[in-house]
Amino acid sequence: MIEFQNVTLAYNHNKMVLDNVSFKARFHEKIAILGGSGEGKTTILRLILGLVRPDSGQIFIDGQDITMLSESELRDARMKFSIVFQEGALFDSMNVHENVAFCFREYSNFSEEEIEVKVRELLNRLGIEEAIDLMPEELSGGMQRRVAIARSLAGCTPKMVLYDEATTGLDPLTADNICSVIKELSAGEPPDRTGFIIVTHKVSDAVKVAERFMYVRNGKIAFDGDISALRNTEDPELRIFTYELHAAEKCL
Ligand SMILES: Nc1ncnc2c1ncn2[C@@H]1O[C@H](COP(=O)(O)OP(=O)(O)OP(=O)(O)O)[C@@H](O)[C@H]1O
Ligand SMILES: [Mg+2]
Repeated sequence: MIEFQNVTLAYNHNKMVLDNVSFKARFHEKIAILGGSGEGKTTILRLILGLVRPDSGQIFIDGQDITMLSESELRDARMKFSIVFQEGALFDSMNVHENVAFCFREYSNFSEEEIEVKVRELLNRLGIEEAIDLMPEELSGGMQRRVAIARSLAGCTPKMVLYDEATTGLDPLTADNICSVIKELSAGEPPDRTGFIIVTHKVSDAVKVAERFMYVRNGKIAFDGDISALRNTEDPELRIFTYELHAAEKCL
């Protein structure tokens, strides 16, 4: 369980990014955090991982308050998650195999022989085994995202995967493909399945994968509900934000 209690944050004590935000999320949930650029979506993921600390309020991971933990104490809490960063974050000088193997070496105690097998298994699971010897610059955007997902899963068995803009900048077919990967990685029934939080401003992708939707605006969670609540929202700004959802329905 992730729990935010009255979390407030202003980077460098400037503009308030999150203002007294509270919510709970269970690890098996499929959540999309929606919101405009600069509204604090990535910041929420950073707070969950303890990469930034709130100015006030508490964040509990599995009941443990992480807001005052040291870097070494945070390690256990962080191991509950894997994260696919907005920027993909592949090492440009390493091929796909080396990129993924690096993470196994970093986060697990497998032997080199075991790592070899695990890298292939993981790439195969994500449908990119044929790209194993390619360099990042030789990959399409969709393949880069899949390698980034493989890297995030290497060496850890997360309770929840955090995706920051996993489909942004991809063409609709490739984005759809990544959505399928996200769904497959979260197969099974609660409470045993691995849940996820996908941060995005692409509502059409969010509704393909998520069951719970949170909308961040002006430092607050302005909406938190399921797909039918999202469709029926009376909030004028959220209706504009989810325009494609309503437009798609009118076409049916
Ligand atoms: N390290 C930082 N130092 C100072 N300000 C920051 C830092 N990171 C983010 N901000 C500011 O905090 C606000 C929220 O940023 P955040 O990255 O969480 O937004 P976002 O909702 O993820 O946006 P986007 O959709 O563009 O990715 C922005 O105004 C941003 O400029
Ligand atoms: Mg962001």
